[in-house]
Amino acid sequence: MEERANGIEVHGLVREYKKGPRAVDGIDITVAPGEIYGFLGPNGAGKSTTVHVLTTLLPPTAGTARVGGYDVVKEGPKVRSMIGVALQEAALDPLLTGRDHLRLQATLQGVRKHRRKVQADELLIRVGLADAADRKVSGYSGGMKRRLDLALALVHMPRILFLDEPTTGLDPQSRTALWEEVARLRREEGVTVFLTTQYLEEADVLADRVGIIDQGKIVAEGTPAELKAEIGRPSVHAIPRDEQDREKIAAFLAPFGERLDTTRDVAVRLRDGLGLTDIVRAVDANGVDIADLELRAPSLDDVFLAKTGRTLEGAAEETEAR
Ligand SMILES: Nc1ncnc2c1ncn2[C@@H]1O[C@H](COP(=O)(O)OP(=O)(O)OP(=O)(O)O)[C@@H](O)[C@H]1O
Ligand SMILES: [Mg+2]
Repeated sequence: MEERANGIEVHGLVREYKKGPRAVDGIDITVAPGEIYGFLGPNGAGKSTTVHVLTTLLPPTAGTARVGGYDVVKEGPKVRSMIGVALQEAALDPLLTGRDHLRLQATLQGVRKHRRKVQADELLIRVGLADAADRKVSGYSGGMKRRLDLALALVHMPRILFLDEPTTGLDPQSRTALWEEVARLRREEGVTVFLTTQYLEEADVLADRVGIIDQGKIVAEGTPAELKAEIGRPSVHAIPRDEQDREKIAAFLAPFGERLDTTRDVAVRLRDGLGLTDIVRAVDANGVDIADLELRAPSLDDVFLAKTGRTLEGAAEETEAR
């Protein structure tokens, strides 16, 4: 088979469900070979639908998509030979063990018989399931199932990996382990990764570029640094020494920028041209009683809020609660 660049090219992609919404409403995405692309969006934004179309599980209503140089509609089998997929809802058989799943998948993917055992062992170690390999999946935690699902997606050594919310519901340790494995795949094997997430931190740590989708449309795209720079101004957070002083501090900070309080502190997004020193000087001059004062660079949360009018962390927690 000829060598194809393992990128992704999407033009004017639309997917309308028969009795549902226009889940994907004309999106353009380019992912370079070997890039990690973070696809961010709240519940129902169209992330999974996009993944389903790009992995040939759903046909598009309009537009085109090429994955690894192949058209997802006309060259489905070729696309499938290049990709590994871990869907949001992992389809595992509770009665099989982790090792059974890997052997089965290796057989289905045409991995040579003598390679199967070694490969299963390697993958189980890589995703941290070596000790649980011979236990039935019915006894796995949510995080263990996600890790097994990642191992299954890697069986045929795909050049492009699709991960749909791979870390939702994982504990911080498993999340970090999965980030490391994804980063390693890109670094050492040049794998292209298309990853959806509701965690801004995940996109920030892992993704070379980020696309934010909201109601089927891409509302922002760029490197995490570019997106943050677009928002520009940092925020200043003051922690009152006495809760009763909150309003007093807020009134004092009001001239410095628009209000941006959190439960913990009183905060403003700084006006252009102002810095922390301006506030410190004013605090000194006015004798305001502040326990701590902190300058924060804009985060992806700020970007998300600015682009969609919503915060995302709350949305992610809702999903976990379900
Ligand atoms: N099979 C379906 N039939 C009809 N509508 C659907 C179907 N699947 C998804 N939708 C709708 O399409 C929209 C996009 O859903 P999608 O699953 O792509 O969102 P998502 O970004 O993956 O959300 P989440 O973060 O909750 O996984 C939603 O309004 C959803 O209700
Ligand atoms: Mg989804």
